[in-house]
Amino acid sequence: MTPQVWFITGCSSGLGRAVAQAALAAGDTVVATARDPRTLDALVASAPDRCRPYALDITNTQQMRDVVQRALGVHGHIDVLVSNAGAGLIAALEECSDEQIARNIATNLTGPLQLIRAVLPAMRARRSGHVIVISAIAALSNHEGFSVYGGAKAGLEAAMEAVAVEVKPLGIRTTLVLPGPTRTDFISKSLEAGAMTIPDYAPTSGKFGTFLRSISGKQTGSAEKVASLIVELSREATPPLRIVTGKYATQRAKAKLRTLTAEIEAWESRAMPTDF
Ligand SMILES: NC(=O)c1ccc[n+]([C@@H]2O[C@H](COP(=O)([O-])OP(=O)(O)OC[C@H]3O[C@@H](n4cnc5c(N)ncnc54)[C@H](OP(=O)(O)O)[C@@H]3O)[C@@H](O)[C@H]2O)c1
Repeated sequence: MTPQVWFITGCSSGLGRAVAQAALAAGDTVVATARDPRTLDALVASAPDRCRPYALDITNTQQMRDVVQRALGVHGHIDVLVSNAGAGLIAALEECSDEQIARNIATNLTGPLQLIRAVLPAMRARRSGHVIVISAIAALSNHEGFSVYGGAKAGLEAAMEAVAVEVKPLGIRTTLVLPGPTRTDFISKSLEAGAMTIPDYAPTSGKFGTFLRSISGKQTGSAEKVASLIVELSREATPPLRIVTGKYATQRAKAKLRTLTAEIEAWESRAMPTDF
């Protein structure tokens, strides 16, 4: 297969780093981006002729557009966009500050949508490309304490369901990846606590936050295996719109579909007759 050009956000660590490494190992070229490009030194050194580092904060739309244009200037096109950068916020809704809510939505929803908008014109011109978005199982089946994080990822998924239909006739493929707990720096580095603690929420979101911190470093999912799967998907002519990774996330997704179906059916006789 012809080597591909990848554009990946959040390559400083975790899944973004693992996808960049897997793409380079497959012989592809990687536009590696991170808030602090110094974190990319070792990655670039591993394949200096095929990996270029760029500073990119997903909440800075102008910087994002400039980096996309610079990458297109160097490589001519982008085959695979991986919107990976993201950040968690573990707190009951009331425990989050205004600033935390705005920043989390900017990172997990608005930023990825702006990035995709910046890359689509070049993919559309070539009638070719694959937009891969790292979502989370929380988008489909959420936990207490993840209202803002899971809400932002669910918003991104709903947006991408529409985008997928818009761009399919233009030759652009779309995939949402929904990982369950994956062994990265996410809990130790990228999971912010609420701005305040309200004792009433200790048995719900507080308990879930304590649980999350207890599994840091012991998550069952492998970032390297998810990354290999993403490289395989990038080579599929008809990749799935959604792919749920790992046993925990798969079980939660299936349980969600069962309860959703059961609830719709239980209320159907009263809800359906609301049509004219
Ligand atoms: N690990 C899991 O269990 C899990 C489960 C479901 C979904 N996910 C999703 O997987 C993705 C990657 O997370 P990870 O598990 O690999 O955790 P990670 O190692 O902490 O990586 C998060 C990445 O996002 C970057 N990032 C955060 N805010 C950013 C911003 N404003 N602009 C640019 N980059 C930013 C971080 O950069 P810095 O180094 O600059 O902070 C880092 O590179 C995220 O979207 C996350 O929501 C992870």
